[in-house]
Amino acid sequence: MSPAPGGALGALEGSSLGQAMRQWLWLYPSVEVVHLVGIALLFGSIVVLDLRLLGLSRHIPVRVLARHVLPWTAASFLLIIPSGLLMFLAHASEFAESEVFILKMLLIMGAGLNAALFHSITFRTADVWDSEAMRRLPPPPSARLAGALSLLIWISVIACGRLLAYT
Ligand code: HEM
Repeated sequence: MSPAPGGALGALEGSSLGQAMRQWLWLYPSVEVVHLVGIALLFGSIVVLDLRLLGLSRHIPVRVLARHVLPWTAASFLLIIPSGLLMFLAHASEFAESEVFILKMLLIMGAGLNAALFHSITFRTADVWDSEAMRRLPPPPSARLAGALSLLIWISVIACGRLLAYT
């Protein structure tokens, strides 16, 4: 392993955690497993809500489903973010220069923005479009768009994460 470069990124790589992530044989793969378990929890929970927003399983109220799955989505970040940061520490300067890594971070921000817009605008009127009478119809276009974008963005984040190993 070449010596860690200077600057803030070099300091991260040279930190004892950064060194441990590179040198302890089982640490990096174990942290990667935690990242993957978190991703399974994130995608597994969000995908059912996204499909519901697209109009599937309309017998389940969106508000009930959201209350059930979103705490799991939030919990997934407790696994994903620390493990992602630990892996980043190991090769901080390489990842910071990687276009795929930058794209992945931008996509994660895009997913956050999409979720924030949905919750602050469309979800606020859910008592109307998610009422028992209206549930026979597909959700409004803004809800379907939010669900479709969420699916597309999270699949792209997963693809970028996997691509990191090849770039
Ligand atoms: C929030 C949702 C995220 C998703 C869905 C995601 C997805 C993925 C996937 C699928 C992999 C490939 C795992 C493998 O090949 O075994 C990966 C690797 C990685 N992720 Fe994430 N990630 C997320 C967040 C983050 C964050 C917040 C960071 C760091 C700040 C991060 C940093 C990394 C790093 C450094 C790798 C390792 C690449 C390698 O060693 O090849 N990830 N991610």
